[in-house]
Amino acid sequence: MLKRSHNCGELRKKNVGNEVILNGWISKRRDHGGLIFIDLRDRYGKTQIIFNEEIQPDAYNQIFRLGLEDVIGVKGKVILRPDDAINSDISTGEIDIEVIEIQVFNEADQMPFNVNDRNSASEDHRLKFRYLELRTKEMQENLKLRHETAQITRKFLHEKEFIEVETPILMKSTPEGARDFLVPSRLHKGKFYALPQSPQTYKQLLMVSGIDKYFQIVKCFRDEDFRADRQPEFTQIDIEMSFIQQDDIIKIGTDLTRKIWSETIGIELPNKFPVMTYQDALENYGIDRPDTRFGMLLQEFSEFVQKSNFNAFKTVLDNDGRVKAIVASGCAKYSRKIIDELTDFLKQYHNAKGLAWMKSTNGDLEGGISKFFNEDLRQEIIKSCNINDNDIVFIVGDKSKIVFSALSALRLEIAKRENLIDQNIWAPIWIVDFPLVEWNEDENRFDALHHPFTSPNFDDIDKMDSNPGNVRSLAYDIVMNGYEIGGGSIRIHSSELQAKIFNLLGISNEEAEEKFGFLMNAFKYGAPPHGGMAFGFDRIVMLLANCSQIRDVIAFPKTTSAISLMDNSPANVDKNQLKDLHLEIIRT
Ligand code: AMO
Repeated sequence: MLKRSHNCGELRKKNVGNEVILNGWISKRRDHGGLIFIDLRDRYGKTQIIFNEEIQPDAYNQIFRLGLEDVIGVKGKVILRPDDAINSDISTGEIDIEVIEIQVFNEADQMPFNVNDRNSASEDHRLKFRYLELRTKEMQENLKLRHETAQITRKFLHEKEFIEVETPILMKSTPEGARDFLVPSRLHKGKFYALPQSPQTYKQLLMVSGIDKYFQIVKCFRDEDFRADRQPEFTQIDIEMSFIQQDDIIKIGTDLTRKIWSETIGIELPNKFPVMTYQDALENYGIDRPDTRFGMLLQEFSEFVQKSNFNAFKTVLDNDGRVKAIVASGCAKYSRKIIDELTDFLKQYHNAKGLAWMKSTNGDLEGGISKFFNEDLRQEIIKSCNINDNDIVFIVGDKSKIVFSALSALRLEIAKRENLIDQNIWAPIWIVDFPLVEWNEDENRFDALHHPFTSPNFDDIDKMDSNPGNVRSLAYDIVMNGYEIGGGSIRIHSSELQAKIFNLLGISNEEAEEKFGFLMNAFKYGAPPHGGMAFGFDRIVMLLANCSQIRDVIAFPKTTSAISLMDNSPANVDKNQLKDLHLEIIRT
């Protein structure tokens, strides 16, 4: 075999005169009658090889019939390129290889798409041939960045005395709020393992074991609705620590984020990240993962509604709803058509009943619902909401959940349309003081907002029985440019308090014992105060790589409908496999 002496990105002027062997893929070829130039590519770069019919007729005749993406080895001499042929865009642009011998390792069929241009095929087609898409420069860079991020993380945490401990993949269901992927047991008829939604229970048990500082870069599995930043299997940087408080986790999370951003893309984030309460995030941005790179904050509008003749919104307020507004600067230019488009978007995706508006011209508010507000009131609105000429005010009145969801989405949509986001800014922020529980209207009970092991804030503990909806938890999220990149909490470490929380969540003693008895029992044998967090590793790499979907930073991802187009999973299994597992498919 012609085994490589160098890689395709390595040779420089100093190698001129050397005899070398390169291995790689034919990435480009140009025929000049008697002279053929090819670019030989591997993951390190490209080198130009020259085949001259007169000098090496054998090699020339072989390359003559080869095509793109064939895999070859070439032995040749490094020569200097003439000055006018130097290509400063590639690292090997000063030299060429004059071929001596060639060996063909594998000839490629007609390629399903051009691997030099990722946009030459639809995403579904590329996913079917994902191993070829991974040959593209962009994907190779993304995988390298992912690897580097993992190395930096491991080194950082190792130096801080964290221990990486692997936890089981076949386990009992964890309560992270999504649906489990289940694995039927062959040996135990009718029983199932669950794939971990996260190693939550194990990492808490490791604290009881005295591990003290745990981490793991770990696969997690959740059967939920998939979006651009969600995959059924994804990776977390999972962290847990003993004898700490919320500030300690926030510090380690901040320092790790700073380290990753600095060492991968050379961005120095501030020593401390801003901290915002959940309530402030909702009131100002309508969402608990605010993109703070631009303004256009939500403003209170109820007081103006109370003084107006706009009965629809007054009814909303009478029914405990909210009315809030955003002012889109310079957007009075929006035509009826654009406003209708925005309204339809909010109706379709955010359950809004409508989108009210007023435009400001010549120091007054006009159009939309302005006729329901008298002149004094219009002036009051202009002043208090800081409205300038040519702005448009969008107003939504509804149940608070809908108002927040609609206006936060509208804020982002307008920012996108008006190009308001400076893409060079990084805006990390911690969100704290999440409510412990939230009311689930469908099920008529409280659900844990984070997960049931999250500690209540001890300042609110007296409200646990009388007003549980108002109890804050010791949970926190870290958000970067509007993406939730991580979250965690201080945990309950007393079995009595844990039992009380299960009660509050409508989990009976029997169910708690059946599902989490092992954890509650463990807390009886000396449980240290502890807490932790988990970063969404794929989301972090997606942001660093400047991609808009996590599929782009995962080697073999699933589609949004949880299918792998490459190997066609999920797939049928044969009858005997089902029989072994005591399963039968019921077709409806
Ligand atoms: P949480 O459920 O908030 O917390 O998850 C932590 C982080 O994981 C990322 N993430 C996802 N990324 C891609 N695809 C998904 N389907 C997906 N789901 C979540 C997010 C999120 O912030 N055990 C707790 C952590 C703890 O309390 O310590 C947990 O898993 O970036």
